[in-house]
Amino acid sequence: MAKLFQLHNLSKSFGSTSAIDKVNLDIETGEIIALIGSSGSGKTTLLKLLNGQHLADKNGDVSISNTPIKQLTNTQLRKARSSIAYIPQDLGIVKNLKVFQNIFLGKVGRISTPSMLWRFLFPPKSEILKIHQLLERTGIEKKLYSVTSTLSGGQQQRVAIARALYQGAHTILADEPISSVDPARANSLIQLLIDISRENNLTLIMSIHNIELAQKFFPRLIGLKHGKIILDQSKVTPAELENLYQLNEEQLTQ
Ligand SMILES: Nc1ncnc2c1ncn2[C@@H]1O[C@H](COP(=O)(O)OP(=O)(O)O)[C@@H](O)[C@H]1O
Ligand SMILES: [Mg+2]
Repeated sequence: MAKLFQLHNLSKSFGSTSAIDKVNLDIETGEIIALIGSSGSGKTTLLKLLNGQHLADKNGDVSISNTPIKQLTNTQLRKARSSIAYIPQDLGIVKNLKVFQNIFLGKVGRISTPSMLWRFLFPPKSEILKIHQLLERTGIEKKLYSVTSTLSGGQQQRVAIARALYQGAHTILADEPISSVDPARANSLIQLLIDISRENNLTLIMSIHNIELAQKFFPRLIGLKHGKIILDQSKVTPAELENLYQLNEEQLTQ
């Protein structure tokens, strides 16, 4: 099968902190992956390397469909990034905009600022229809014209998912999207993201703190510890878990 992402000897440091340390990894189109590991293990950094938000240190790189990110021109990088939806921990939505306007922002890298402004003020019927359909799929179609701040946290997450779909991305990177919702909502949100990804043959990579949910829903678990991949499999034993979340001496004395 075609490799969508290939990580070769990938490292990323911030000053003297090595956030990702010589990682090698292949990800195929349509894979559903949970990225697990304790806080500070490198999950967010890895997600940001995958979409070119962070550039790797000099020796390694990420290839997207066989092209190393470092070889892309700025225009090509922008195009590659527009095909990868990134849902940050804070969802990256503008709360005082209406829901449909936030969805429009999914195409911010693809259409010019003047046309975006025009769409904000005079939304074309055909686009509103498309957005309505996407909101139906995420269960919040009644909120199309609502100001986003009036939605619950769970509903705002659905806005972020609908925006990713509108973006027309082949990949969704979701950074701990369930960290601020209750367990029942967490289950339905993960299920929704996985269903939508499967229906559309999207690749889904989600960082997730809750190991039970990761094991329940995800066929592939990738465990990071101090920036290294220490497991890549479908089930994790208690001993492996203990090792994954074990704190080092430095963290224990902080
Ligand atoms: N922009 C940054 N500047 C400096 N250090 C960073 C930055 N981003 C991450 N780090 C450090 O890199 C390590 C990995 O962080 P991160 O990828 O956020 O881990 P996780 O998402 O698993 O909690 C941590 O030690 C963190 O402090
Ligand atoms: Mg993080």
